[in-house]
Formats: sequence, C-alpha cells, structure tokens
Amino acid sequence: MTVPSSDQTLPDGVWVTTGRGGLPVVRVDVPACTGEVYLHGAHVTSWRPLGAEVLWVSEAAVYQPGKAIRGGVPICFPWFADGPGGTSTPAHGFARTTEWGLVGATTDGQWVEVILALSDSPATRELWPHSFTCDYRVRMGENELALLLTVTNTGDEPFLYEEALHTYFGVTDIRSTQVDGLVGASYLDMVPGADRGPHVLDGPITFAGEVDRTFQGTGATAVIRDGDRAVTIARDGSDSAIVWNPWIDKAAAMGDFGDDEWSGMVCVETANAKADALTLEPGAQHTMTAYISV
Ligand code: BG6
Repeated sequence: MTVPSSDQTLPDGVWVTTGRGGLPVVRVDVPACTGEVYLHGAHVTSWRPLGAEVLWVSEAAVYQPGKAIRGGVPICFPWFADGPGGTSTPAHGFARTTEWGLVGATTDGQWVEVILALSDSPATRELWPHSFTCDYRVRMGENELALLLTVTNTGDEPFLYEEALHTYFGVTDIRSTQVDGLVGASYLDMVPGADRGPHVLDGPITFAGEVDRTFQGTGATAVIRDGDRAVTIARDGSDSAIVWNPWIDKAAAMGDFGDDEWSGMVCVETANAKADALTLEPGAQHTMTAYISV
C-alpha cells in the first residue's frame, strides 16, 4: 500500500483510508464536492458536486489487484482495447490495474487537486519495453472535474502509445439519453458484426442497442443529455472520443457488470486511440485533459 510519506501533509478535507477490497483510496470531502480516487489504477470512482453523483460504478465491480474497477474513470494506457497491433494484453493496457503512487494533494478552498504518478518498472517493461512517467492530476470542484494525464518519455527511443480516460457516467435511462456535439466527426463502429466504417456521424447519438463508436480526428466537446441534465465533456490534447453502452447481452456476459445496470450508464471517453495514437520522442511529453461539468 502506498501512503503519503511522513513529510507529506494533505490539506483539510483530503485523506487516505482503506476502501473497498482493502485498497487504499484518497477521499475528498470539501464544501464544493466529495470524491474518491483509488491508488489502484489512479481510478476516480466518485465525484459528487453539491451532493449529486456524476460518475457510475457497477454494484458488481471488483476491487482487487490486477483487476480494473468497472465504472468511474479507468485509465487506458499505454494502449486502448488490444492496441495498435491488435494483440496487446491486458485489454486497455496495464495502467488501470497497477497501483499508482500518491504524490500529494493541494486545495485553494474551492478546488482540490490530487496528484498521482506511475512510472515504468520491471513488471511494466515486461508488457511494454519503454521508460515513461505518467503524472495524473485530478481536480475536483463544484462545477468541474478536470482530469489531466501527462505522459513523458524518459527513455532513449521514441515510443507510440494510446490513452483513454474511460469515463462512465450515470444516466436516468440510456433509452432516452442522447450524446450531442460530435456531428460531422468520423468514427469506427466497433460493435461486433457491424460495418466498421469509417462513417461520418449525421445526428445526435441515441441508444437502441449496443453502441461502441471510436471517433477519430476530433477534439469536439460532447454533451450527454439526460432529461433536464446536461453533462459536458470538453477536451484538450485529445483527438479521439469513444461512446459506449454495452446494452443487454454484453452487460449480462460481463461478470463485473450487473445484468440490469446497462440502462443507467454511458461511457464518453477522452482519448488518443487507433489512428490518433501518439508518438513521443525521448524527453518529450504530452498532456491530455478532460473537463467534465454538469
Ligand atoms: C470501451 C470499448 O472503451 O470499453 C468497448 O470501446 C469495451 O469495446 C469497453 O467493451 C469495456 O472494456 P473492458 O476491457 O473494460 O471490459
């Protein structure tokens, strides 16, 4: 378990405790919001501005080393799905199943920023032979959750990587939810058996079956419309967005996803994936940011 070193002080309203499955979790409780970040995967599992939860986590989620938490914001890195070559494992990379270090936290009374870090180790180099650091800043406030992922190449060779902030949002009913903002963008339809495309989106995204679309070459802001509520996902340094709902059969096939939970969630992910994979030269870094507001 990684705990803050003795010379590290966390601000009032931020502390480390034991979360589900005995995993260490950073809890935030300030007037603007409450929130939760597991060190396992640097996984944000809760952001409640003014008491209303924005993220979705499955009741069946498993909290254990080596397993990704189903819901919240898993970090996909250094590849997305099965990677550029289609053969990388584990799915979505190792960042979401590795324990990150807690660097610290700051607050200005309005915002809380929790900073986590991951760098290469013998275990990561076995899966991906590169030297890197990931610095992750989670900024929680009353109006916004900002997630900033900075990847630095600390090695001597360039590397190619993919990344995603695989954000799960709670919705009242996916059948009456719509995702706006991506009209005109090019996407690949990743639903098994579908014509993969590329297609061009010609209207708001609605849901009447499994949706699994990887939007490419677009930094457009997406808006989830759920009744009177709108959740906005603005992005910086991100050219891909993934919109996903597993629908009935795929949800039932996942052991860590409740059979009836598919109607209450949608993923809108901030990413650089597939054709938008990034190359970093030695010493170079890139920051991808998701700005989530309600
Ligand atoms: C989405 C992918 O990002 O993640 C889907 O587009 C995938 O194809 C989903 O099913 C969940 O992936 P996992 O590995 O967390 O089950």
